[in-house]
Amino acid sequence: MEVISPKMGNYNLANYEETRKFFHWDEVKKVFSWSKTGNINIAYEAIDRHVEEGRGDKQALLYSDAHREETYTFSELKTLTNKAAHMFSKLGVTKGDRVFIFMPRSPELYVALLGAIKVGAVVGPLFEAFMKDAVKSRLEDSAAKMIVTTPDLITRVPVEELPHLETVILVGENIPDGHGYRSYYDEMNIASDRDEIIQWVDLEDGYVLHYTSGSTGKPKGVYHVHHAMIQQYQTANWVLDLKEDDIYWCTADPGWVTGTSYGIFGPWLSGVTNVVRGGRFSPDDWYQTLEKNKVTVWYSAPTAFRMLMGADPAILKKYDLSSVRHILSVGEPLNPEVVRWGYEVYQHRIHDTWWMTETGAMLICNYLAEPIKPGSMGKPLPGIEAAIINDHGEELPPYRMGHLAIKPGWPAMMRKIWNNDQKYNEYFAISGWYVSGDTAYKDEDGYFWFQGRNDDVIMTSGERVGPFEIESKLVEHPAVAEAGVIGKPDEIRGQIIKAFISLREGYEYSEELAKDIQAFIKTELSAHAVPREIECRDKLPKTRSGKIMRRVLKAWELNEPAGDLSTMED
Ligand code: WT7
Repeated sequence: MEVISPKMGNYNLANYEETRKFFHWDEVKKVFSWSKTGNINIAYEAIDRHVEEGRGDKQALLYSDAHREETYTFSELKTLTNKAAHMFSKLGVTKGDRVFIFMPRSPELYVALLGAIKVGAVVGPLFEAFMKDAVKSRLEDSAAKMIVTTPDLITRVPVEELPHLETVILVGENIPDGHGYRSYYDEMNIASDRDEIIQWVDLEDGYVLHYTSGSTGKPKGVYHVHHAMIQQYQTANWVLDLKEDDIYWCTADPGWVTGTSYGIFGPWLSGVTNVVRGGRFSPDDWYQTLEKNKVTVWYSAPTAFRMLMGADPAILKKYDLSSVRHILSVGEPLNPEVVRWGYEVYQHRIHDTWWMTETGAMLICNYLAEPIKPGSMGKPLPGIEAAIINDHGEELPPYRMGHLAIKPGWPAMMRKIWNNDQKYNEYFAISGWYVSGDTAYKDEDGYFWFQGRNDDVIMTSGERVGPFEIESKLVEHPAVAEAGVIGKPDEIRGQIIKAFISLREGYEYSEELAKDIQAFIKTELSAHAVPREIECRDKLPKTRSGKIMRRVLKAWELNEPAGDLSTMED
């Protein structure tokens, strides 16, 4: 078996009992502010605590994009997030209200997000690429009271169709008239920065709502609580290996859970300097960001590594990446090839981590202190009980494929699916295990190996896309009668979205029509939901109950046998 041998981290994982205690309640009381107030607030812990403990002048945020370059200390962030909290409070936000943040990465995004959490709101971060329908369904489902967005994006927020939405705060210079739009900068200018604004909450109170896709139905609102901080803090230490002097860069946007759990809370709960780079990916830009900020710990995704691997090798020679000491990956299977390439060009092993929106924090990981088997996701964290089970909840022996399942009870686990108890309960349908939806096996050393999703969820460029939402939108196009959407294997992106469609009477298939359909999805849903390939068929395979059989579409695509067709229409 191929292994890449370890480089020792600062901790010793041999003693599981020792590390396990960090998940214990007594630790919370010692490390965080509980001792002072009997309650807690994850935003306070991430920012203010460092000021109180004498780290106020330390750089907290190194922000840059094509137009701005700014740094913020923990003290500065404390003042700003307090102001944002006062702004939200004055505009009527109270504990438990849903506040959405819909804007490109910028310091304002981070300040608004933390400010809203300071007053006890549940924040819904939305990726900037979302279009009107995607925005609407999320605000509607959560009955959001407020949204923070920009003048550029406001046309995608259908204010009039959202009866619960009371206030729109716009971050920008030119605030259009109407709908009681508020100017972020004006409100922040007059806001107080006093500490009393902080809402102390229970560990089990919510702080973030991340919408994610399943294989059926609308996106699900995955609800996380302040308690998650314990595990974010611990995994930032154990897995990201963050230490006082680190400069850390997580490339994910806060619209996805990686961008909150490890783009905000992991590093800031640990008091570490956090790099945020706005704008789009390019190999030059990313290497520049590593070099300029002297990044030491870098957390990214397989798609990005594959793109960097595909870039001109000469690019690498232009940059000094010697500050980097630890590299990690999440989101999709990390190909052994990429691990080997990373070791060669960066002289560091890329450490894979496995977790999900629903799990809130890392669960199965490669540690610095253990050998890496390229292609494996690593081992469960101390305190995490992971298993491969069959349909009856029985644990399977090594090398047998089955459901990757976790014993519930880890601190960062989702506490509900917003407005949908049934969906929530479905995760625990097999003997009370949390069933991830991934198929995997375990080897005799306890390493886990990812094999695939066992539902129809598509992972494209590390983003999770539900086929149902795209299919529903496709059939809204005037030419489309039926649609079935699958993930097609792709070297760079992991999978790409492929749509099979049949047309309505009177329409004929052409390249132009395909382009029009793609543009339709892009403007109505979002750029990352656009099918890169469209194939037109007279008829799509359906069950007798009329459900499109994606399994058959996949078999068509891969030239494989379609399996049991007994439920097919004809
Ligand atoms: C799905 C969850 C929270 C991280 C971002 C994705 C896939 C995640 C790995 C990995 C193979 C992975 C799984 C999982 N996935 N990490 N290291 N190796 N697959 O979060 O959008 O909730 O997607 O991403 O299929 O179920 P997400």
